[in-house]
Amino acid sequence: MQYSDKVMEHFMNPKNVGEIENASGIGEVGNAKCGDIMRIYLDIDPETQVINDVKFKTFGCGSAIASSSMATEMVKGKTIHEALAVTNKAVAEALDGLPPVKMHCSVLAEQAIKAALIDYSKKHNIHIPELDGVVIDDDHDHHHDHDHGHDHSHEKALPTDKWVPHTHEPGVPH
Ligand code: FES
Repeated sequence: MQYSDKVMEHFMNPKNVGEIENASGIGEVGNAKCGDIMRIYLDIDPETQVINDVKFKTFGCGSAIASSSMATEMVKGKTIHEALAVTNKAVAEALDGLPPVKMHCSVLAEQAIKAALIDYSKKHNIHIPELDGVVIDDDHDHHHDHDHGHDHSHEKALPTDKWVPHTHEPGVPH
């Protein structure tokens, strides 16, 4: 699998890693298939609606980390409206492309930003028209939410989706 220099750069030296205390909005999304999880924190100026700061924590593959890094760079200093125009395709393009099987990693980044903005709009009672009808496909928790009461004795133990950092290297598909 071929990764661009940009992907490698943002994977090796990701920007905006961390958390924001008392964040204006937090978005967490996951992908059930690969088990990767991304959390984005936004600090938004209530007057100007500008994203002053953004941080992320991603436990996932190299492309997910590179996508988080690039996406956070792309929304920092932008208004909410401008940030919502940052699509996964824009993130992937800014990274000089992702392999087709890794495009879903950039989708997580777009979704995490949207989820954080939805959280912000709920917490501050602000209507963001672009988010009307947006459903975040946050499926990493489903086996917690829906599995109760079923007989799992025939199933193998599923890995739990705790916050355990993955150690996948780019170039090693998983
Ligand atoms: Fe699933 Fe990258 S986020 S493999």
